[in-house]
Amino acid sequence: MTPPLPLAFIPFSEVIAAGIPHGPARVFAMVNQSGGAGKTTSAVNIAASAAAYGWRTLIVDGDAQCDASVACGYEPDLMESQATLYDVLLGVASFEDTIVPALAGKYGAEGTVAIENLYIALASAELEDAEQMLATRVGREFWLRGLIDAVRGHFDLIIIDCPGNLGLYVVNAIVACDEVIGCVKPGWKELRALTRIELKIEQIQGALNGVKAYLSKVLVVDAPTHRSQGAVYDDSKKTVATAYEEQMLPMVRRSPRIPEAYAAQKALCIYDRAGDATQEYFNVTKALGFARRKK
Ligand SMILES: Nc1ncnc2c1ncn2[C@@H]1O[C@H](COP(=O)(O)OP(=O)(O)OP(=O)(O)O)[C@@H](O)[C@H]1O
Ligand SMILES: [Mg+2]
Repeated sequence: MTPPLPLAFIPFSEVIAAGIPHGPARVFAMVNQSGGAGKTTSAVNIAASAAAYGWRTLIVDGDAQCDASVACGYEPDLMESQATLYDVLLGVASFEDTIVPALAGKYGAEGTVAIENLYIALASAELEDAEQMLATRVGREFWLRGLIDAVRGHFDLIIIDCPGNLGLYVVNAIVACDEVIGCVKPGWKELRALTRIELKIEQIQGALNGVKAYLSKVLVVDAPTHRSQGAVYDDSKKTVATAYEEQMLPMVRRSPRIPEAYAAQKALCIYDRAGDATQEYFNVTKALGFARRKK
């Protein structure tokens, strides 16, 4: 059974009906074919920071792991009646039906509230099948672009959180976005991931018309890693900074608050308002052009 809605829950359809002007949104895709590179953490916390600065923001969770949905208070697999992106793929729900307010805290729990200006299009574990379902479609690379273009006018910022691969869903995200943010951990192996992302974008642009996305930003997130971190690791940080000087966003250092905030299902700026990691994500958000919005 779906738990009762939190008090501050405002369905997206009502927000649209209110007709407050926003957008057209800038659309970013968080990409890296490796898992655990900080894509979801960054998507959620950049989005929450932009929302706190007054920008109406949408996170699109396209990952069957549903990490962004969970970070925003939801466990879509336990909410039978809630539409997810998978239902849109099946043709039984509209994209707007999947968009719900991001929450601070667990859905249905006491004290949980909706975060102002922040929305999420929910994923579900069934998205595992998305690649095969998309593969047989006409215009299979353009599915997500169609959905996102239809809601651009309602948001200022849209961030697509991608799974850790370069498969067909990620191709969809690259086709749908204006700019790709390459999210990497410091390290030589991780650095090579940026080259692969650039190659993938080039391939997509060569094969499909009208794809404007490019690797506009590189975000180094010092997520935990099993490798020993010595001089080689420090050198690689400098190499990323030199090779991608113009694209570099302010770095996000390792912080225990990040997994803690995820476990609490709260964005960092709500979980630890004055913390260093929170400030670092505010800095990244400003560097993307989403400083505090003038009223
Ligand atoms: N700066 C950080 N400090 C500490 N822990 C972090 C940091 N960034 C991310 N983490 C943790 O590292 C793990 C991986 O991060 P995240 O889920 O954001 O990566 P991802 O790229 O989305 O992975 P996947 O490809 O599996 O979706 C998570 O447990 C997250 O809480
Ligand atoms: Mg992720």
